[in-house]
Amino acid sequence: MKKIAVFCSGQGTNLQAILDAIRKKRVKATLALVVSDRKRAFALNRAERAGVETIVLRPRDYPSRRRYEQRLLTLLKSRRIEAIVLAGFMRILSPTFIRAYRNRILNIHPALLPSFRGMNAVQDALAYGVRVTGVTVHLVDDGVDAGPIVLQEPVQVRPHDTEHSLHERIRRVEHRLYPQAITLLLEQKLRVEGRKVKIVR
Ligand code: GRF
Repeated sequence: MKKIAVFCSGQGTNLQAILDAIRKKRVKATLALVVSDRKRAFALNRAERAGVETIVLRPRDYPSRRRYEQRLLTLLKSRRIEAIVLAGFMRILSPTFIRAYRNRILNIHPALLPSFRGMNAVQDALAYGVRVTGVTVHLVDDGVDAGPIVLQEPVQVRPHDTEHSLHERIRRVEHRLYPQAITLLLEQKLRVEGRKVKIVR
């Protein structure tokens, strides 16, 4: 079974969806490690409840980003992690780190990229007045929210949506899409050709 790590900073509802998909054998992988950059991330409770090893790595405990990421890579290598899933991880990884896991890092973004990149995608989409937003799962490259797109799905914006109500509907789609994308990656069904990802079935 392939070993994966999930990186989180917050609630961890996507982590939960991945844990559930693994339990139901919809994703054939071992979740060997959950990494958080915040001690209080609720995601850590979810991982512990599922018996998954957790590690908190706080950047402020390291003299530089390089040293922080070196430690991260050492941990990943020692546990033979083959792919990394970013699920609400609020840090940007350096090109050096990304190169070590080239085309093996997935991210999920709560908008239809390339619209509404960045930390406040749901709020920004609402403020812009779009009628449709959505979810993007993409491979991570050196740009922010910029790598080749694996899966996307639209979500309608309703007239009385708040950031919270819209994000909840987006999350529901995320929880279904992310396990699918992880399976495609682990089963080596993704062929990256420049910006495009071909899915071979
Ligand atoms: C998700 O909406 C994801 O798209 C974004 O951060 C949020 C994380 O939510 N990158 P959760 O912690 O998985 O509930």
